[in-house]
Amino acid sequence: MHEFEGRVAVVTGAASGIGRALAGRLSVEGMHVVLADVEDGALRDAVAGIGGDAVAFTTDVTSAAAVEALAEFAYDTFGAVHVLCNNAGVFQGGLMWECSDADFEWTFGVNVMGIVHGIRAFVPRMLAGGAEGHVVNTVSMAGLASTPFSGPYDVSKFAAMAATECLAHDLASVGAAIRVSAVCPGLVDTGISRSRRNRPAELDAPQSEGGAFVEQALADGTAGSMSPSAVADLVVEAIQEERFLVPTRPSYARQLTDRTEDLVARRLPRSPIFD
Ligand SMILES: NC(=O)c1ccc[n+]([C@@H]2O[C@H](COP(=O)([O-])OP(=O)(O)OC[C@H]3O[C@@H](n4cnc5c(N)ncnc54)[C@H](O)[C@@H]3O)[C@@H](O)[C@H]2O)c1
Repeated sequence: MHEFEGRVAVVTGAASGIGRALAGRLSVEGMHVVLADVEDGALRDAVAGIGGDAVAFTTDVTSAAAVEALAEFAYDTFGAVHVLCNNAGVFQGGLMWECSDADFEWTFGVNVMGIVHGIRAFVPRMLAGGAEGHVVNTVSMAGLASTPFSGPYDVSKFAAMAATECLAHDLASVGAAIRVSAVCPGLVDTGISRSRRNRPAELDAPQSEGGAFVEQALADGTAGSMSPSAVADLVVEAIQEERFLVPTRPSYARQLTDRTEDLVARRLPRSPIFD
């Protein structure tokens, strides 16, 4: 997609971090933007910050009905959707054997089913509209390589990556004019290490020692790292150039090569240090 002006974008997880930056950048490109997030107050602030005709729709992406309502709202408000950014995501880590069902259910609900719900609610409408479009799923380098103490997050992000590839293959196989991108950032300076602020009470579980350790490491690693707006710039470029993979650091190439070499040699892939 080369033309943004006057077209419509929907961004989930738009109240903070990468989603907020993406919504702002797409608005600057002249798009009508619908911002969706589960954190209502921060969502209103984000919309006010973007201004123009940007609108908010409070949405919990773990609910298929809520994402369907978001799609209805977007089409009722602006008549079409051309760019869908399934960006909402949460981090939960810990040693695999110490993570609870609730840890997996929460991360899967947001990071995997959030994407699946977005695809099901929007893609049929986008196909019916017949216009060119783009689906942008925020995955992570953690969807391409795994690290210790990150089981729930990494397992969910590998699934998010597979969902993104499957969608791209399916759309290509039916000759759709909709392209797909997998955004795979390294560390970005956002609220991701504070994901538990939006963890629903019914899926709450005490943080394990390993979980607390990796949450602190993530807070230290993301503070002062790449800015969300730099990621948004890369996403806009990828949409224009129809690129599937959107890494944020040159180190991604070495990390992917190492992993492939290790697997071909039938070794456990070495654990990368993300930057
Ligand atoms: N920050 C990083 O270092 C990094 C690296 C790789 C990938 N990512 C991915 O980037 C995406 C955006 O995260 P971020 O880093 O900007 O973090 P963030 O915490 O700043 O933003 C995430 C947003 O998602 C929202 N959210 C959480 N649960 C939700 C739900 N159930 N429904 C709707 N919205 C919900 C939060 O309220 C928040 O506004 C995530 O998918 C994350 O996994 C982040």
